[in-house]
Amino acid sequence: MLSGKIDAEEAAFEAGLRPRRMDEFVGQADLKERLAILVEAARGRGEPLDHVLFSGPPGLGKTTLAGILSNEMDAQFRATSGPALERAGDLAAILSNLDPGDVLFIDEIHRLPRVVEEVLYTAMEDFQLDIVVGKGPAARSIRLELPPFALMGATTRVGRVTPPLRDRFGYVARIDYYPPDDLELIVRRSASILDVDADDAGTRLIAERSRGTPRIANRLLRRVRDYAAVRADGLVTGPIAEKALAVFEVDDRGLDAVDRAILEAVVLKFGGGPVGLSTLAIAVSEEPETVEDAYEPYLLQQGLLQRTPRGRVATALAYQHLGVVEPGNGGQQTLV
Ligand SMILES: Nc1ncnc2c1ncn2[C@@H]1O[C@H](COP(=O)(O)OP(=O)(O)OP(=O)(O)O)[C@@H](O)[C@H]1O
Ligand SMILES: [Mg+2]
Repeated sequence: MLSGKIDAEEAAFEAGLRPRRMDEFVGQADLKERLAILVEAARGRGEPLDHVLFSGPPGLGKTTLAGILSNEMDAQFRATSGPALERAGDLAAILSNLDPGDVLFIDEIHRLPRVVEEVLYTAMEDFQLDIVVGKGPAARSIRLELPPFALMGATTRVGRVTPPLRDRFGYVARIDYYPPDDLELIVRRSASILDVDADDAGTRLIAERSRGTPRIANRLLRRVRDYAAVRADGLVTGPIAEKALAVFEVDDRGLDAVDRAILEAVVLKFGGGPVGLSTLAIAVSEEPETVEDAYEPYLLQQGLLQRTPRGRVATALAYQHLGVVEPGNGGQQTLV
């Protein structure tokens, strides 16, 4: 699976390639400029950074950018995640241990339990913590002062972040898919860090097949490097990358086996749609959340799939890509 969750080995590999400074972060020029202004302004005032929420599909650089902002502020970076914070006390413990100016990063912030989220409101707004101590009639609320800190949230689903939480961020940074030119720079940078010999055609091909996603670009580079090492002389050329990606079932649009399974299900099992998300997810043996967060956004962006109120619908382009004749377009549905 190329688009979904990452394992421990990949996490270690990613850590080595992750840009640490703004000038190493490739692409997203407009977003970088806005973030640079936030950083400079905060530094000028001698205050912590505004709270920033990063949103966008997996692997586009949300965690990376949060880390970069923290480095640019010379702040300490503390990381946790929505699901890890089960009770209000879990968050209170972290907040009360922050040093002034620290960055607190909460990944998957849309999965923060409600009671925890409510504690965060006053913490973000006033750097204060209202906690209830004791139970029953003896319970009382006490207020703790917190050191000023910057909250950075990351989410693949900005629509699931409640409005009161979203409104408390000073800036919402949306990250979009990268064009091939930017991915080419990312592949080149990674190849040089990993000491992989790759020519322009090899680099370009990997960039074009990376689903607009830096994480996938790095992953494909690794797979092509392996192929070049064991099936050729180690040099990543265009033809070698082409063969390697065929072995790993990445097609000429960069779609992987799951992407294609989704399109094939809509087209062949559900007559082109509309089909509901959960039915579709069962058909491809994936979680609905994985289909919605990791696969669908790219298929939508590529114009292969459409979302309608009644469900997902395959476009003419999807039929064309799969080599299936569209019904009503002359002939029967057959896989070529
Ligand atoms: N603009 C970029 N320039 C160079 N490398 C990048 C860029 N964006 C991401 N990367 C690389 O891609 C990898 C994945 O990025 P990151 O972990 O920040 O994604 P994410 O948006 O946090 O994903 P997730 O939603 O899964 O948490 C990083 O390790 C980094 O090496
Ligand atoms: Mg992340």
